[in-house]
Amino acid sequence: MTDTAIAWDTYSRQRPERRPTNAAGETTWFNWTAYPDHGPGAELLETPAGGRVLDLGCGKGGNVAHLATLGMRAVGVDVSPQQLVAARERWGWTPGLQLHQADAISFLREDREGFAAVYSVYGAVWFTDPARLLPAIRERLRPGGRLVFSQRPPVEGCYGCQASYIPRGADEDPLIVKRWDYEPDAWERLLKEHGFTDVSADVLAAPPGNRKTGTLIVRARA
Ligand SMILES: C[S@@+](CC[C@H](N)C(=O)[O-])C[C@H]1O[C@@H](n2cnc3c(N)ncnc32)[C@H](O)[C@@H]1O
Repeated sequence: MTDTAIAWDTYSRQRPERRPTNAAGETTWFNWTAYPDHGPGAELLETPAGGRVLDLGCGKGGNVAHLATLGMRAVGVDVSPQQLVAARERWGWTPGLQLHQADAISFLREDREGFAAVYSVYGAVWFTDPARLLPAIRERLRPGGRLVFSQRPPVEGCYGCQASYIPRGADEDPLIVKRWDYEPDAWERLLKEHGFTDVSADVLAAPPGNRKTGTLIVRARA
């Protein structure tokens, strides 16, 4: 296994399952943010039932399973076997859902069918160098297809490649993965440079409460 997969397996063991139901009593739902019952939903993908969509870094699979229940051909890719064990246990029965263990760029390079939408929720788009990933996504999106991703906004002054620490035991060093942070206008520039159109990047404010960190949501079209 690669160091990246080992790091994300470690992360996976520390993360709880998604709740059985959301505040509206639904058993599946889409969430772009780190807050429960907050923000927009699957409508950002602008993809009708039957459309093929790709989740890059699907984790335990809650979002991609929801899209399958809406009738989309929903493909989830994650580098962590442990995340996919959890995803298959909970959602493996869902018609229209496919889950693959792979690195995001390798999967995009090998796929031959293309996608109506590619998205990522605090997922592989955050943890992959955009100079390598954006061309691979652009290549697989059908004309007019949507790229949408969300992640934590950058800390002021900390831009480009940053270290993210995944804690282990008290007497072990944390594992480290890389992530890429940019201000909204820098994301807009990057996406345009890679041939995307209809680009927007905005920070959605946190819901009322003690936590103030919003959610960066970036949207573009092929
Ligand atoms: C912070 S978690 C978010 C998971 C999920 N999208 C969610 O919202 O719960 C990041 C996920 O991205 C996956 N990931 C990171 N780098 C990846 C890569 N290069 N290719 C595929 N998956 C990756 C990790 O294994 C992990 O499941």
